[in-house]
Amino acid sequence: MSPSKNVAVIGAGAAGLAAARQLKRVGLSPVIFEAGATLGGTWVYTDATESDPISVAPDRQRVHTSMYANLHTNLPRDLMAFREYPFDARGGGHHSWPRFPGHEEVLAYLQRYADHFGLADDIRFRAPVEALVPLNAAGARRTDDLEVAAWLIRTTGVGGEVEEERFDAVAVCNGHFSVPNVPDVPGASSFSGLRLHSHNYRRPEDFAGKRVVLLGGRASGIDIAVEISAVASETVLSVGDARAGRPLPGCDDVKVCAAIERFNGDDLVLTDGSRIESVDVLLYCTGYRYAVPFLNAPDVVRVDDGWIHPLYLDLFSVVTPSLGFIGLGNMIIPFPQYELQAAAFAAVTAGTTTLPDRTERERVAQSRTSTLRSAGVARRHFLTQGNKQFAYNDMLAERFGIDPITPNFELLHRAVEEARAQDVKGYRFATLPWLDAGYERAASSQYW
Ligand SMILES: Cc1cc2nc3c(=O)[nH]c(=O)nc-3n(C[C@H](O)[C@H](O)[C@H](O)COP(=O)(O)OP(=O)(O)OC[C@H]3O[C@@H](n4cnc5c(N)ncnc54)[C@H](O)[C@@H]3O)c2cc1C
Ligand SMILES: NC(=O)c1ccc[n+]([C@@H]2O[C@H](COP(=O)([O-])OP(=O)(O)OC[C@H]3O[C@@H](n4cnc5c(N)ncnc54)[C@H](OP(=O)(O)O)[C@@H]3O)[C@@H](O)[C@H]2O)c1
Repeated sequence: MSPSKNVAVIGAGAAGLAAARQLKRVGLSPVIFEAGATLGGTWVYTDATESDPISVAPDRQRVHTSMYANLHTNLPRDLMAFREYPFDARGGGHHSWPRFPGHEEVLAYLQRYADHFGLADDIRFRAPVEALVPLNAAGARRTDDLEVAAWLIRTTGVGGEVEEERFDAVAVCNGHFSVPNVPDVPGASSFSGLRLHSHNYRRPEDFAGKRVVLLGGRASGIDIAVEISAVASETVLSVGDARAGRPLPGCDDVKVCAAIERFNGDDLVLTDGSRIESVDVLLYCTGYRYAVPFLNAPDVVRVDDGWIHPLYLDLFSVVTPSLGFIGLGNMIIPFPQYELQAAAFAAVTAGTTTLPDRTERERVAQSRTSTLRSAGVARRHFLTQGNKQFAYNDMLAERFGIDPITPNFELLHRAVEEARAQDVKGYRFATLPWLDAGYERAASSQYW
């Protein structure tokens, strides 16, 4: 592809902004379609919540962000920042800001990033993409297994006018923390209390004096349990692992219990046979589902059971490198990885780097899937990276000729994880032994 190609970016959150920035850096002029009225995606806080508190009613009024009022980042801004734009006074932040900033500060940082790199004028606001259609060489919808020659994007303007435009390449950056995962807990219809998903949680005051059970023990479950426990009459965090029965480190007000088996009226019966009686609120902190509702081309890419596939390097459609997904990883340090993925997508789109042919891309994707299956990884975790993110980042940097992220980055991350494991309430204020000599690079280096 040459820099004269038309490129679209879907979404103006952190991933879409990174994609646009990297595309512009290589001389392309992307059009950014944004459904909302402002940029920032997840970081655009609103008091509004969905009309169905567990977000399962198909006709519910939807809200994109899952942000809550008191949220502070769970990463220090030194780690969170895009590498080429520091999150302090040298870039889009301020030295006086907390090391773990609030959501307003992250939004301000993203707005400054967009201004600094001249992205804001390229965004079409209130332009939700309704359809993304692969076209063949004749410009018709592709119905065979031949090359995808181009993409058609359909939007409907505020005045109801339908617009269709053709693009040579598309970066999908629509986020994946907006559609709640709500597991079926048997007996739910016998429960008279409130059930809601963390997507629709905003403030702890709403739970004052209540008996609250939170299901799901990762970032949302722990962080929300800590803030609710300051006002609730009782706060119980239900986890499906060995943490059950042990205190939450640094927060004695939260009781940690086993997984939930079923409701029995307003009581919850747990898998260890114990019960939690007279529950007022069950708060599902059970994560989110991938959704790309505007792409109905299962012969190119499918979204199934917590996974998007087939993808080459978790980034490009195996079928065509003209379709990229920036930001699909879970349990990662997001912005710097988006920046790397965006730079790789931009290099391929501009034609300065080529990918192997489709047969080889298919082979690599299948080999990766087999490795995950053999390791017993559940499909919903195929895009979860955790400690493997550093090797993935290194692989992208090497493969696409981008400056690698320094090893200090991983060391700093490990220091934060350790501080959090010791004190879930106070880690954001801890003096972290950032670069103690005792930290060594993790041994789990092989990602692919
Ligand atoms: C509660 C919570 C706390 C988090 N805390 C942290 C943290 O502390 N640190 C951190 O680094 N990360 C954190 N994250 C992860 C966070 O989501 C990422 O940092 C990042 O904001 C994701 O960016 P994104 O662009 O992929 O998605 P989003 O921010 O969701 O942006 C997607 C954009 O696409 C738009 N869009 C969607 N569909 C369409 C469509 N059809 N047409 C046009 N536009 C569309 C949306 O309106 C939105 O603006 C948190 C996530 C959540 C849910
Ligand atoms: N800045 C902050 O402080 C902050 C706060 C909240 C969220 N976040 C971010 O937001 C993103 C989403 O985090 P999240 O915690 O909402 O989602 P998540 O990371 O996907 O965690 C959801 C948890 O719920 C569990 N779960 C799912 N179904 C369950 C069931 N039936 N019974 C028991 N447990 C179940 C999952 O278990 P499995 O692992 O087995 O699937 C997982 O542990 C992350 O990027 C996170 O970092 C940040």
